[in-house]
Amino acid sequence: MTASNKITLTKPDDWHLHVRDGVFLPSVLSDTADRFARAIIMPNLVDPVTTTRLAGEYRSRIIGALQNKHKLTFDPLMTLYLTNRTSASEIKKARESGFVHAVKWYPAGATTNSNQGVSDIVACYDVLEAMAEEGMPLLVHGEVTDPTVDIFDRERVFIDQFLTGIIKNFPTLKIVFEHITTEDAVLLVEGASDNVAATITAHHMLLNRNSLFNGGIRPHHYCLPVLKREKHRKALIKAATSSSKKFFLGTDSAPHTKETKESACGCAGIYSSHGGIEFYAEIFDKAEALDKLEAFASFNGPDFYGLTRNQDKITLSRKQSVIADVIPFGNEECVPLRAGGNLRWSLD
Ligand code: NCD
Ligand code: ZN
Repeated sequence: MTASNKITLTKPDDWHLHVRDGVFLPSVLSDTADRFARAIIMPNLVDPVTTTRLAGEYRSRIIGALQNKHKLTFDPLMTLYLTNRTSASEIKKARESGFVHAVKWYPAGATTNSNQGVSDIVACYDVLEAMAEEGMPLLVHGEVTDPTVDIFDRERVFIDQFLTGIIKNFPTLKIVFEHITTEDAVLLVEGASDNVAATITAHHMLLNRNSLFNGGIRPHHYCLPVLKREKHRKALIKAATSSSKKFFLGTDSAPHTKETKESACGCAGIYSSHGGIEFYAEIFDKAEALDKLEAFASFNGPDFYGLTRNQDKITLSRKQSVIADVIPFGNEECVPLRAGGNLRWSLD
């Protein structure tokens, strides 16, 4: 094989992941642990992970559900779910735990299991102050929840109404603008200080909003923030492949059952962990930027979070494999991204 048909990388990390809980954990964890050394575990369980104690218990359940071969190779990095009632002392506790690495801000009602999220961020200013002091990153679901704002504009409006102000008021707070979907978000992050970074999903770089309505409504392409126009997809690819240290890999793999997706009111979320690194290899390859993949997938994230880079390596080959129509998900099924299609790259 020529060099461009094979690529060896420092083992990557997934900086935005949903693995759910209970019977669902074993169904999805091995896809992630086969590819990644660490993952930032999102706290939006049905009963959200609002305290260090709950994060520790959730972490134990995750480790308990890992296959034996992954128990020593995979480290779940936990997060807390910010609420109007989170205290500054909880942030201290979280930092001292060593296993909580960030705090997630869901505007109340913005996405799956966000009802207990923040309704007034100003009420959380003492907590943000404590986070800045402790070097604890704030992870932001950046969409306004105002139902009168067009759903395709909610990220852009969030930047103007909230994010710009938070960045200005808390210049030393580390902020990750999660799963960015617009050119506006790219420009905001590029223009901000080194304390502001962003994760980018594979699906927002593979698909534009036409994929939601391709010959009929496509519930498995519905996620939040919703897919955007082609010009935004292109801006995301440009950012990811730009060599900027501010952008890093976060799949936002978010499994739901087939039944709850294929419904009159289907859930938001796309499962992509089965191709957690392979989809990105395809995107970077197509952009003729495979040489930029390692920094995006394996260096920029740990550097931003102040963690060490991984030591192990993985190798990907340009080799097709068929993606299953469904994967087992607890006692039910989940439809993975590009079900029945091909992965263009394979993990050796
Ligand atoms: C996520 C989920 O299902 O938990 N859904 C999604 O569409 N991305 C929540 C989130 O990250 O918004
Ligand atoms: Zn998410």
